[in-house]
Amino acid sequence: MKTRVCIIGGGPSGLLLSQLLHRRGIDNVVLERQSRDYVLARIRAGVLEHGFANLMREAGCGERMDREGEIHDGFFIAHDGRLDRLDLHKYSGGSSVLVYGQTEVTRDLYEARDQMGGVVIHEVEDVQLHDLTCATPHVTFRRGGETDRVDCDFVVGADGFHGVSRQAIPKHVLREYEKVYPFGWLGVLSRTAPASPELIYARHARGFALCSLRSRVLSRYYLQVPSSDKAENWSDDAFWAELKRRLPAEVAQHLVTGPSIEKSIAPLRSYVAEPMRHGALFLAGDAAHIVPPTGAKGLNSAASDIHYLYHGLLDHYANGDPSGLDGYSAKALARVWKAQRFSWLMTSLLHTFPDSPAFDQKLQQAELAYYFSSEAGQRSLAENYVGLPY
Ligand code: FAD
Ligand code: PHB
Repeated sequence: MKTRVCIIGGGPSGLLLSQLLHRRGIDNVVLERQSRDYVLARIRAGVLEHGFANLMREAGCGERMDREGEIHDGFFIAHDGRLDRLDLHKYSGGSSVLVYGQTEVTRDLYEARDQMGGVVIHEVEDVQLHDLTCATPHVTFRRGGETDRVDCDFVVGADGFHGVSRQAIPKHVLREYEKVYPFGWLGVLSRTAPASPELIYARHARGFALCSLRSRVLSRYYLQVPSSDKAENWSDDAFWAELKRRLPAEVAQHLVTGPSIEKSIAPLRSYVAEPMRHGALFLAGDAAHIVPPTGAKGLNSAASDIHYLYHGLLDHYANGDPSGLDGYSAKALARVWKAQRFSWLMTSLLHTFPDSPAFDQKLQQAELAYYFSSEAGQRSLAENYVGLPY
């Protein structure tokens, strides 16, 4: 098989790039390890920046998102017996975020790929990248016992944190920066009315909690749990009881509980790989960087990568101009590190750290009190949460 761009990974990063390129006449193929049903069953992000939403519209995939997604002008932080609201609209100069689930984003992208006759090959095994520093790179894979090969101009590694693309960069070239947190998030999705129309991030001595939502009838909740914990250890009743303990009484008493539709634990990690380009290979999204979800920046950082890469590829194919692709890694990383900083800040402010001295806990309290007493502090939180410019 021959194509211009071989995209490894059919998650949101890979599908979005595939759709954008195809609409501009740039032929591409997506290779995905899992079945489509498996990809669509993963419950992850919920909060989208407008930069991401604009890319979805540019990809011709914004219609349902604009109809069903909810604009949020603010969110709450519960701490120290207070429920403070961050007015995103006021402090970001009129911006907001869009609440629309990653599952729905992925579904819309798959439907658009089908409608355009895009090539997405599922259940591929043993994907290998070859000759990345030569003029004729290629990718091999196995499917149904047969080995196949894609010859291309460029390879995009959009295969998430556990993918193979990043490993194709030689050890002496790749620099890795990592911070692993000693806790994870236990997430529950339930068909119940949300506890609050806006998100509530809660700092509590027993650990962090988050009330989020997907719609008026679908809620998403998270609890901080030790890294060693297992989702099977948590009955639905135990989850709801612990969530109530960590929320302000006025929220807990109105919490609508019900059976969980999904329950899983996500580890918390900060990770960046540099550079994001090696020869003909470009890394994008979770393949290159991971953030703890506290700032809602993972999918949104993937989107800014796709924006830079898409424009770099357009300039290359339309004008023979290599500058966008040459500058991709530096440009993408500059924004990625700012999202890392914000995600680390939100994580540090809101979680309970095992064995942390009382001094550090007092600092967390003082920092939150500072943010909500300062116009500059709220501006800083708001402009980062709605998303820094591309
Ligand atoms: P993935 O979604 O990981 O997709 C990669 C794809 O590549 C997968 O489909 C995988 O099957 C495939 N693949 C892997 N290996 C191979 C291989 N060898 N060959 C072929 N295919 C392969 N982000 C936000 O912006 N806002 C939020 O509110 C938010 N909340 C989150 C909550 C939780 C609990 C979690 C865990 C994450 C959250 N995120 C959030 C982060 C967000 O989900 C990720 O950043 C996003 O999924 C990254 O998309 P991606 O396409 O780069 O990678
Ligand atoms: C979610 O709804 O899954 C969600 C929302 C906000 C976050 C993280 C996850 O910061």
